[in-house]
Amino acid sequence: MEARVVTLPGDGIGPEVVAEGVKALQAVADRYGHHFTFEERLIGGCAIAATGSPLPEETLEACRRADAVLMGAVGDPRYDDPRSPVRPEQGLLAIRKGLGVFANLRPVKVYRQLLHASTLKPEVIADVDLLVVRELTGGIYFGPRQEATGSDGTAYDTMVYTADEVRRIAHIAFRLARRRRGKVTSVDKANVLAASRLWRRVVTEVAAEYPDVTLETMLVDAAAMHLLRRPAEFDVLVTANMFGDILTDEASMLAGSMGMLPSASLGEGRRGLYEPVHGSAPDIAGQGIANPLAAILSAGLLLRHSLELEEEAQAIEDAVEAVLAEGYRTRDIQEEGTIPVGTREMGDLIAERISHA
Ligand code: IPM
Ligand code: MG
Repeated sequence: MEARVVTLPGDGIGPEVVAEGVKALQAVADRYGHHFTFEERLIGGCAIAATGSPLPEETLEACRRADAVLMGAVGDPRYDDPRSPVRPEQGLLAIRKGLGVFANLRPVKVYRQLLHASTLKPEVIADVDLLVVRELTGGIYFGPRQEATGSDGTAYDTMVYTADEVRRIAHIAFRLARRRRGKVTSVDKANVLAASRLWRRVVTEVAAEYPDVTLETMLVDAAAMHLLRRPAEFDVLVTANMFGDILTDEASMLAGSMGMLPSASLGEGRRGLYEPVHGSAPDIAGQGIANPLAAILSAGLLLRHSLELEEEAQAIEDAVEAVLAEGYRTRDIQEEGTIPVGTREMGDLIAERISHA
């Protein structure tokens, strides 16, 4: 098949890990006889430096024309000053909104080979296989906001949800649960927030259309606790934008490293935005030591969700398992007795396995 992929390497370690994601896609194309074209565009801090905007119009247009978008990360300490009028993260929020990708899928899987890489006990995390479905284009990230002018000013952000926004994300969660273990945990703060009470009511209504799926509702503080206490009992978690942001960083520690977590952001059509859950990690940027597996696994999700190439997606996931089983590790997941590799070597090993799939 022919497919057009826009790559948005972004900032920090973004370019290093996206290069390995592209390498994996190219290996898939060669192995399975597909033709993928890659077009690189600017987003985030590098886009601000080049154009003044964190999401140049041209980037958004290229993404709209593409079949899928593979992104690295945005974020640059140069813009950390709270008075900074423009920030790289605005580019990320704008592209999610601009592409209408309201459903962010963040699968968390614990690789047997990494059981001991986590700070949590192996017996607690052994059977973890969960999927966080994070609402991505609404909630407190996008509600009415006021910046404080001086240091004694007032600032606010507002969590707004419409019933339609909740309904569409709930349907995605239930549909996905059907293909998994048939359980949805809806996470909210309905004991305090009006937006969460709407969330809970609508999710419960939608659940009636999926009698084969079990719905459980849970407050977000309790969910944060249970993710550490009994993570293997979760199947699909569906939650609002900010709760999903926080819970997925927490959940990444089940997998041992942020460097292991991919994500897929989907809207109404097939086109999606694929990115690692991790950030730009400026402290290790440019050193060739970042873990590219989250970006490579994101490329796998791209094959599955945007191109409907299930076998090829599986080939990427199998390659990751194989390379981990052989003992290769980037620094973030290293243990005694494993073979240390850098970003590029890890990508080469994966591409190699894909070629022989
Ligand atoms: C994520 C990130 C982003 C978010 C930041 C960089 C804006 O933390 O994708 O989880 O909060 O959505
Ligand atoms: Mg986050």
